[in-house]
Amino acid sequence: MVQCRIDDFGHSVEPGYREPMAESFNAAVLAEDRAARYAEVADEIAAVLDGEPNRTARMATVASMLASSFDHYFWTGFYVVDPAKGDELVVGPYQGTLGCLRIAFGRGVCGAAAAERRTIIVPDVEAFPGHIACDSRSRSEIVTPVFGPGGELIAVFDVDAVEPDAFDDRDAAGIEAILKRTFA
Ligand code: SME
Repeated sequence: MVQCRIDDFGHSVEPGYREPMAESFNAAVLAEDRAARYAEVADEIAAVLDGEPNRTARMATVASMLASSFDHYFWTGFYVVDPAKGDELVVGPYQGTLGCLRIAFGRGVCGAAAAERRTIIVPDVEAFPGHIACDSRSRSEIVTPVFGPGGELIAVFDVDAVEPDAFDDRDAAGIEAILKRTFA
């Protein structure tokens, strides 16, 4: 008689069979090379979001899939432009410890990226004037502006790492490409 293996969720598991679910989307099966990994994740995100117009759902998916794809991501998420104020960011979908709720344009790394509409890489947050420490474990970060279909600023995307100098041009290029593909 053939023995049936049962997994933690009560499904039978044939030898050699892998559930094509969340566990197949993790760092273990993605490319080692950082640029190649961004390209793979970009395709995965586009596939998951195909046909889904809701912006919150799109932001939540980007934050979740990027956070689960890179070991150096500690805090990953969006600060969206508050339409009622125009020059203030309010926290959006994120993965990580509790984030500050509101950031004025020009304040901290997120506010600077929003005001200047450019990606900012900070290798040492303690050396950045006005850095906002939501979690004292953050040592370096990258913040990228997010533009909508009309070229308007809709949010910034913030990734923090607990290691210093964790982000470089590969992260900037990879993140910018995903944000453009997802929101422009
Ligand atoms: N460090 C950011 C604030 C946001 S959080 O760290 C989640 C900044 O200086 O803009």
